[in-house]
Amino acid sequence: MRKPIIAGNWKMYKTAGEGVILVQELNALTNAVNDVEIVVCPPFTALPAIAAAVAGTNIGLGAQNMHWEEKGAFTGEIAPGMLKDIGCTHVIIGHSERRQYFAETDQTVNNKLKAALKAGLKPIMCVGETLIDREANATKRVVGAQVKGGLDGLSGQQVAGLVIAYEPIWAIGTGRTASAEDANEVCAFIRRTVAEMFDQPSAESLRIQYGGSVKPDNVAELMAKPDIDGALVGGASLEAESFSKLVKFK
Ligand code: G3H
Repeated sequence: MRKPIIAGNWKMYKTAGEGVILVQELNALTNAVNDVEIVVCPPFTALPAIAAAVAGTNIGLGAQNMHWEEKGAFTGEIAPGMLKDIGCTHVIIGHSERRQYFAETDQTVNNKLKAALKAGLKPIMCVGETLIDREANATKRVVGAQVKGGLDGLSGQQVAGLVIAYEPIWAIGTGRTASAEDANEVCAFIRRTVAEMFDQPSAESLRIQYGGSVKPDNVAELMAKPDIDGALVGGASLEAESFSKLVKFK
């Protein structure tokens, strides 16, 4: 059985103080949950304060991005070891907003995945197609290439512990969710792709999240699908009551 993982991507929202209040409220609502992995991913500036706030709780801490080099002259960048040092357990890699606005490619995603694993961070690798891709029936070709490029050179053992987030770009922040059937179809395709690249047991261990306008009123239907093992949540993670309802989807 794969343990569901619900992760909140706060994107460029919340100061450190606002974030601490949010996780305190969230913890009060979810501290009895032990059958779902809970992760919050604040902006870099809030990470140290949130690390202190989640200490001793069942809430994991993720960053939203990192560089793949261990150190060096990379102005404005953050190294994997720096995230680990301040208490991060997870890191989001290759979110579509980073691919779209910051020129991330399957190669940089692959570099970052390897660096995150080396640093002992648990990566959440994001993949997903545009509306143009979907309307051209190119979803599987696009997502398949992202999976193959992102996971290139990893071992089956490494992949077994990964989280992949399938986020159709047209469903992010739009209120337009993929139907549970369509989302599951792509998640199942991702699992088959991983099985072909590595092996069946690794593919069966891999957790695959759906992301894109996940809300309290659609989470249960999505989570009931066999190949959907959690959610990567933007908007609904910015408020404790709505995020706690996603965590308590059962
Ligand atoms: O990382 C999260 C996704 O981009 C989904 O965002 O829940 O606001 O649609 P959303």
